[in-house]
Amino acid sequence: MTSRREIIKALAGAALLPGALPLARAQGPAHEPLKDIAARKGMRFGTAISHGRNQFGDPAYRALVERECNLIVLENEMKWQALEPAPGKLEFGPADEVIAWARGKGIAVRGHNLFWQAEKWLPAWVGRQNFGPQPAKAVEQLMRTHVSTVCGHFGKAIKSWDVVNEAVDPADGKLRQNALTRPLGALAQIDLAFRLAREHAPQAQLVYNDYMRGDAGSARHRAGVLTLLAELKKRGTPVHALGLQSHIGSWDLSDSGSDKGRADLAEWRKFLDEVTGMGYDLLITELDVNDRRLPADIAKRDAGVAAATRDYLDVTLSYPRLRDILVWGLADNISWLQTWYEAPRQDKLPMRPTPFDGELKAKPMRQAIADAIKAAPPRQG
Ligand code: XIL
Repeated sequence: MTSRREIIKALAGAALLPGALPLARAQGPAHEPLKDIAARKGMRFGTAISHGRNQFGDPAYRALVERECNLIVLENEMKWQALEPAPGKLEFGPADEVIAWARGKGIAVRGHNLFWQAEKWLPAWVGRQNFGPQPAKAVEQLMRTHVSTVCGHFGKAIKSWDVVNEAVDPADGKLRQNALTRPLGALAQIDLAFRLAREHAPQAQLVYNDYMRGDAGSARHRAGVLTLLAELKKRGTPVHALGLQSHIGSWDLSDSGSDKGRADLAEWRKFLDEVTGMGYDLLITELDVNDRRLPADIAKRDAGVAAATRDYLDVTLSYPRLRDILVWGLADNISWLQTWYEAPRQDKLPMRPTPFDGELKAKPMRQAIADAIKAAPPRQG
């Protein structure tokens, strides 16, 4: 049998055809692009993409992104530790390359992220920094330099920034502490991050992004995020939207369609009611489905993933304040969940958490996304 790669190579070698044909072959029957389905509702559809050779470096994958998406976010390349691996050593190359490509294709780009609150995701050198006798001043200066450098570099190309990522500890709902929060206080540090972002990216939607879910195991996380959003509102911090990461599926015992699944969705709706009630917009920033409690059988598993997607989107897309949906990778083989230590299946089978399989063929999850968008109320204006 001829593999997808061999077909692509043969076509590219013969200089026969643009990227569209290998993709059409990979996909099977033509589907209306998700971005077009979304556009009819006043919404956008996108994905995370990394610069690596099996994503941006793979012409077929890139063509799939171009076909389905009018919005992307860099999976890792705009994180602080990627942009500045050592103090003052700036590496914008990979992000710039992807952004230039997106620009040429008319694809919008989100920024992810300016501050990632878990200490382990800060650049290691930030943790080792000696902030001297006036640590609050020094931290403020470091944050200012970081935001002005990064936002200054990317400029108006980024119309939406995840300014602060994952500030709430799911274990107790409290704000996480790190090298930057300790001298300033966590709330003041988050407030400052948003004020700096407003100053240096005045064109951008400013987003607080987190991974709370609807299940009981996530109750403290949800409560902590609501408390944080309320505090920020009170302070007048410039936060426009809550980013719903939407890493859904079997992180706990929740099963789609079960009583528990329905109860979780009811809790999720309550949460979204509160968030939108405070005046925040919403966006889905990192959708994928952990399938570790679904059966090994591929047809059953894909059906379960699609059902979970549809249930979740039916609730979440019912909020007209939500206009953007991004998945965290379009194809199973490149999903971060294949190697994420908290995620693995007991049977060690590869996960199937995204809308396309490793051969870039559409899965039932893609249909579930299309159907959910079609069923969603249209956005005005
Ligand atoms: C993940 C990437 O997908 C991995 O490649 C990386 O090793 C770790 O980070 N929440 C987020 C994303 O906000 O930045 C994370 O991305 C996934 C969870």
